[in-house]
Amino acid sequence: MGKIKVRLKGKAYEIVIRHGLLKTIGVMLRRYACGSDAVVVSNKTIWAIYGRALTTSLKKSGISVHVEFVPDSERAKSFTSLKRLLDHIGAYDERKRLFVIAFGGGVIGDLAGFTAAVYKRGIPYVQVPTTLLAQVDSSIGGKTAIDLSVAKNLVGSFYQPRAVLTDTSILATLSERHFKNGLAEVIKYGVIADRGLFEYIERHYRKILAKDTEALEYIVGRASQIKARVVEKDEFDRTGVRAILNFGHTIGHAIEAAASYSSQYHHGEAIAIGMVVASRIALTLGMMSASTAGRIEALIERVGLPTRLKGIPLSRLERSYLRDKKFVRGKNRLVLPVCIGRVKVIEGVPDAAIKKAIRACMVH
Ligand code: NAD
Ligand code: GLY
Repeated sequence: MGKIKVRLKGKAYEIVIRHGLLKTIGVMLRRYACGSDAVVVSNKTIWAIYGRALTTSLKKSGISVHVEFVPDSERAKSFTSLKRLLDHIGAYDERKRLFVIAFGGGVIGDLAGFTAAVYKRGIPYVQVPTTLLAQVDSSIGGKTAIDLSVAKNLVGSFYQPRAVLTDTSILATLSERHFKNGLAEVIKYGVIADRGLFEYIERHYRKILAKDTEALEYIVGRASQIKARVVEKDEFDRTGVRAILNFGHTIGHAIEAAASYSSQYHHGEAIAIGMVVASRIALTLGMMSASTAGRIEALIERVGLPTRLKGIPLSRLERSYLRDKKFVRGKNRLVLPVCIGRVKVIEGVPDAAIKKAIRACMVH
C-alpha cells in the first residue's frame, strides 16, 4: 500500500493507493472521521460496475449511503447538475453528518468537489478517482470547477478533499482510449520532474498498457507524489510553481477548444500533441537537444497517443490559443522542457517559434 501526505497549512491530507482498496473503504473512511452519512456522486456507467462493492463496504462500517447520479460526460460540469445536486442534498440533509464522495473520473471529481465546497459554505468530501487521469491528476490538489459555455472550468474554487482513496484495480474496466488519456499526464510528470519515471515508462510501457498491477501502482504512486509536492509549494497556483503542471497544456487546451471539446480530441490526446509542440519550441529556442525532443515524441507515440494534429485548421487553433487564460499581461507563458526531468516557464515566446512547431505537427 502506498500513502502520500499532502502537507498544506492547516489541512494536510492523505492519498492512499492500493489495488483492491474499495473493499475496505468503509473502515478507512471511519478513520478520516468525515461524517456518518455519505452522498456519493457518480454516474450510471461506474455505478453499474462498482456501486455494490462501495455500498457494501460503507454500510459494513455503519455509514449510510445516498447516491446521486450525474450525466456521463463533460455535460455534468454544469449549473444544471450543480443545482440539482444542491437541491437534493439540501432535501436529504436532516439531522445528518453529511460528507460527499466523488466516485468517478475527473468530471465527477470536479463537480462533486465544487458542490461540497459551496453547500453550507463547505462540507467534507473525499475523492475516490476511477480513471487514470483522475488518479494521477484531478483528484489531487483541490481544484474544483464547473464549465461555462465560453470555456471550461471558469467557475470553481480551491477546496481540498479530506482524503484521496485510489484503487488501481478499478482501472481494469477503463477503456483503452481513456487509459491512454491518463497516461499522457503520467508522461508529463516524467518530463517535468522525474527522469526515473520517464525511463520506467520507456522500459515497461507494454506492462503498463496491459494494466499490470505492479506497474500501475508504481506509475500512479510516483505521479501522485509529484503532484502532491508541486501542490504543497503552490496550493493556489500563485507563485508559478504549479504552472509547471501545464507542460503541454497551452497548446493542448487550444486543441481541445478548437475541436469544440468534442470527442475528436480527449484532454490527454490534446496534451500529448501539446507536449510534442512544446518540445519542438524548446528545440528551436536552443533550450534542449534534438535527441531529447525525439525521445519525448517517441515515447508518446509508443504508448499509442497522437503526436500529430489532424482535422483542425491552423487559423482555428491560433484563435483558440490567443484566448487561452495562460497569457500574463498580454504575453504568452509556456512551460518548456530543458531535459527529461526539468522544465522552465518562459514568458514571451516568439510567435514565429510557436507557429513553426505547430506547423511541423500538423497533418494536412
Ligand atoms: P471522465 O470523468 O469523463 O471519465 C471518462 C469516462 O470513463 C467516462 O465515460 C466515465 O464514465 C468512464 N469511467 C470512469 N471510470 C471508469 C472505470 N473505472 N471503468 C469504466 N469506465 C469508467 O474523464 P476524465 O478524463 O477522468 O476527466 C476529465 C475531466 O477532468 C475534465 O472535465 C477536466 O477538466 C478535469 N480535470 C480536472 C483537473 C483538476 O485539477 N481538477 C485536472 C485535469 C483534468
Ligand atoms: N491540473 C493542473 C493543476 O492541478 O494545477
